[in-house]
Amino acid sequence: MKILAYERVEKPVLNALKKHYNVCFFKNIDINSDPNFIQSLKEADGIIGLGLPVTRDLLDRAPNLKIVSNVSVGYNNLDVDELTKRNIMATNTPGILTDTVADMALGLILATARRIPELDHYVKSGQWIESLTEEHYGIDVHHKKLGIIGMGRIGNAIAKRAHHGFDMEILYHSRTKKTEAEERFNATYKDLDDLLKEADFVCLITPLTKETEGLIGKREFQLMKKTAIFINASRGGTIVEQDLIAALKNKEILAAGLDVFEQEPINLDNELLTLKNVVTLPHIGSSSYETELKMSQLAAQNLENGLNGKRPPNLINPDVWEKINNK
Ligand code: NAP
Ligand code: GLV
Repeated sequence: MKILAYERVEKPVLNALKKHYNVCFFKNIDINSDPNFIQSLKEADGIIGLGLPVTRDLLDRAPNLKIVSNVSVGYNNLDVDELTKRNIMATNTPGILTDTVADMALGLILATARRIPELDHYVKSGQWIESLTEEHYGIDVHHKKLGIIGMGRIGNAIAKRAHHGFDMEILYHSRTKKTEAEERFNATYKDLDDLLKEADFVCLITPLTKETEGLIGKREFQLMKKTAIFINASRGGTIVEQDLIAALKNKEILAAGLDVFEQEPINLDNELLTLKNVVTLPHIGSSSYETELKMSQLAAQNLENGLNGKRPPNLINPDVWEKINNK
């Protein structure tokens, strides 16, 4: 069987797959013009990878495809309806990355509030030559209000760290109320506007969907406190980036910590890169050695199950499995 592997499949996993399948691996190529990619797509039984835009057009060029295995929990890169229509399974890697992403979100909260990258630069560039004044101070994290938008697996893990580790008061907004989080972290459900008005830190960790696209824009930044810090660990498309830039420049909010951007890798002329009160990361929330390996392993298990007639553990479109097996 033939497998198309695309970016970010860890080497030990790629090598293990190569023992049993005919695997072509692609990185940094143009998926619309690379002849090897186009040929491999034509023959592929399965795709494994991170962020490949699986659109109707791509599927038209992949007539043998049975499964697409994402090496990520987010699957906004997949046209799930189109995959389902064509009886192609889709899978993701939930759960195993939850703690790693939550650690990073707390890192962004601390880094922005205590201005860690900015002050690191201050020390290393030789500017620390006299005692500090208040212009170098940050703001406290402990005992502040953290508003989490998207109280799912990662949202809960962020709340756990913030509440039990930093004595933060947890506000949250999701499509549904979460009684367990209310009990475990004393979390309070808020509608979106109230959360934005009341939180000292606003942390966005929803999937990117039709409903969450551009969820946080000009109006939402204006609702936030002038002292609020905004953290985005979800996807770049859940906010209106130009509105964030305006809010930061107009001092409508204090600072932002960002792991995700509208365009990735980020455009070097993006104004966010010029603002001192922004901490940027290269979409690295789940990227510890341990977790990346586990994600690749889980994605490979999903793929191999699907190719060998076993139910993949993380099916996004279970209808396809039912249809294939009730034929
Ligand atoms: P999850 O368990 O499915 O949680 C998602 C949460 O978002 C759920 O609580 C859901 O609410 C909420 N939500 C969905 N649509 C919403 C809406 N329209 N308004 C308000 N809340 C909404 O997923 P997860 O494992 O925590 O992952 C969440 C996302 O994080 C991923 O999809 C991905 O985009 C992002 N992520 C980023 C990184 C990174 O490296 N930066 C790494 C991993 C994941 P209900 O429960 O009420 O439905
Ligand atoms: C990473 O961004 C993921 O969705 O797993």
